[in-house]
Amino acid sequence: MKMTTSIRFLLACVALMTSGLLMTLSGCSNSEASSSTAGSITPRQFADGVHAVMMADRTVYATHVVTNLKKQDAPVTADEYWQDTENAIPLPAQMFRMGAELVDENPEAGFTYALRSKWPLNEQHKAKTDFEKEALDFISDNPGDNFYGEEELGGKKFFVAVYPDRAVAEACWSCHNDHPSRGEDYPDFAKDDVMGGVLVRVPM
Ligand code: HEC
Repeated sequence: MKMTTSIRFLLACVALMTSGLLMTLSGCSNSEASSSTAGSITPRQFADGVHAVMMADRTVYATHVVTNLKKQDAPVTADEYWQDTENAIPLPAQMFRMGAELVDENPEAGFTYALRSKWPLNEQHKAKTDFEKEALDFISDNPGDNFYGEEELGGKKFFVAVYPDRAVAEACWSCHNDHPSRGEDYPDFAKDDVMGGVLVRVPM
């Protein structure tokens, strides 16, 4: 895996945190990044670590920004059409996609991630490769399990991890089940259903 300094730094942080060492993020300095720990992290540990950060950020945004505004009856609401609506901010899934798009454009990132679903409201979230289709089938058929594997794209090898994205709150299924973009075969999602997957793709 070809790694830039920033990726090495992130890997070192993730490795140190996942190995259970007591440390704070601010204590993870560049000098630690150059220690041997950076060399020993596996692509799977890297994917698990960045996935944990992504989901934490999404949960914090959904809970402490979107839901908090609703609770306060604030004049600002999360709205799919936030760009054309006054006092509106993006939905958590849109925040997630826009972040993924920025990482995709950043040559220093060294990896990519995306939301995927067998039943996408946004066509951009459809499976793009046979591997992705297999992964989405697997996480739907084995709720709670992640899917890990290797994929070759354009002559390059990637480690790919796909994590289930589940209906954890009523807002998830009520918004999706009533959405005008739902297709003919759209399921009636209920609590804990796997609604899609978060994919992390790391070059090997
Ligand atoms: C207010 C409506 C709303 C709520 C609440 C909501 N979503 Fe979505 N979700 C959307 C929309 C709209 C998209 C497409 C966003 C885009 O354009 O990227 C989407 C995208 C997704 C996707 C990618 C596949 C697709 O359908 O395009 C998944 C998976 C997903 N949401 C799961 C969830 C989960 C899990 C929750 C609860 C934690 C949730 N959503 C809450 C509206 C919602």
